[in-house]
Amino acid sequence: MSIRFGRVVASFPVHRFAAVLILGFGAACATQTPEMSPGTPTGAGAASDDFSPQTLAAGRQVFRFDTFGDEQFWTDTARMHEVVQKSVSPTMALSVGLKVDADAIPADVAAAIKGGKVDLNDPATTVTLLKLNAVVGLNGTVTTVNGKDNLTRLGITCALCHSTVDNSFSKGIGHRKDGWPNRDLNVGAIIALSPAVTPAQKAVYNSWGPGKYDPRFNIDGKSTPLVLPPAYGLARVRNETYTAEGPISYWNAYVAVTQMHGHGNFSDPRLGINIRQTPDMVGPKLGSLRAYQHSIEAPTPPAGSFDSEASARGRVVFNQNCVTCHVGANNTDNNSGVLHAPSQTGQDASYALRTANKAYRTTPLRGLWQHPPYFHDGSAATLEDAVTHYNNFRRLGLSAAQQRDLVQYLKSL
Ligand code: HEC
Ligand code: HEC
Repeated sequence: MSIRFGRVVASFPVHRFAAVLILGFGAACATQTPEMSPGTPTGAGAASDDFSPQTLAAGRQVFRFDTFGDEQFWTDTARMHEVVQKSVSPTMALSVGLKVDADAIPADVAAAIKGGKVDLNDPATTVTLLKLNAVVGLNGTVTTVNGKDNLTRLGITCALCHSTVDNSFSKGIGHRKDGWPNRDLNVGAIIALSPAVTPAQKAVYNSWGPGKYDPRFNIDGKSTPLVLPPAYGLARVRNETYTAEGPISYWNAYVAVTQMHGHGNFSDPRLGINIRQTPDMVGPKLGSLRAYQHSIEAPTPPAGSFDSEASARGRVVFNQNCVTCHVGANNTDNNSGVLHAPSQTGQDASYALRTANKAYRTTPLRGLWQHPPYFHDGSAATLEDAVTHYNNFRRLGLSAAQQRDLVQYLKSL
């Protein structure tokens, strides 16, 4: 076995990261887990969920708070702890879409914020929020020296992109909604704040905009950002991602190691990636993480958010025009292994071409009311646009009334 990092080009400042990997490699050979046969991507094996309360609690803890040791990147390389401490006020954090967990804020601090007594333009307030573990998806270590708080480590968690809040306290501050994609989050703009990012990378990161992320830019240097997808309603979905790269633990390991830069193992011969770091802070957590994600159900549409009579008519239109692909309880034929060439559904091919399968999975339709825009690249801003796309591209000849009914049906899913 050899370390192959050849295709991982330095669009992120990976040199230091690669060195860590290589250092970790020798020791890792001795502790190799037997489930990995050469040629099988990490996390791709069959698995069954343990839905015991302990496992679900452990998985929730991982999903919300675990950095998998990714401080090795966000702190040691990207120096984001310095950026935050120096220049990221709560106002700025909220403006790039970061969310604050109201349940982590003690009552007196909450009252002070409500009473306008907390300076939301002071980066020190952000450090206080991190000390309270109140910033969704960020995990900070704060040490206090002579009464002054210092942010010494900073890492990211899954919740950064796949959780939001219900805004019950104020905009951007509220109760957590795990699994709901954070479509306000401008991941690219946040990464672009790092002093380790070159001007050329900065331009790319700043081009993505809110609610999007390219999970391969640091692998192949290309940029076709994807809409952050929901991580709910996946219990009976066989393969994850827009291109069905593999089962959920495959993708979780991919993201944790190659994107979050967690300290652990990931290999996929299809992509020429084989990363070994000891200790593996990712692999042992994949089981509980999977169970927790599978336990998150898609949110039901709010009362009155769709017209049920029109939706019933729309269901007939759907059954006549869409179920060849959106089939079964989860509305996807990928559960029986089918993939679709981009040209079959009129989708832009450029992202698919960068992946192992080179084709798109029929997206399982769930909680559609909650997460515009639609399609992998967000090319349909609304469900009306998605229906118009199909009507034109597949020459369905639907009347205006049928299209309206179909939209109402999609809103009911
Ligand atoms: C920086 C933002 C970001 C972070 C952090 C992140 N993800 Fe994702 N996630 C994405 C994007 C973008 C996709 C879409 C990838 C694709 O479909 O090709 C995705 C896809 C997924 C999917 C597939 C959803 C589906 O419909 O198939 C799951 C499940 C998921 N992520 C879980 C996780 C978990 C668990 C973690 C933590 C280990 C995590 N993500 C961390 C951005 C992120
Ligand atoms: C030939 C197979 C096929 C047919 C027929 C089909 N779809 Fe799709 N559908 C797909 C694929 C593949 C995707 C993923 C496309 C992408 O993300 O680029 C998708 C994605 C979607 C999405 C986006 C979901 C999201 O969360 O982004 C919606 C909405 C949708 N389809 C609705 C419909 C409707 C309504 C019809 C019938 C008019 C229909 N589809 C017919 C294959 C199909």
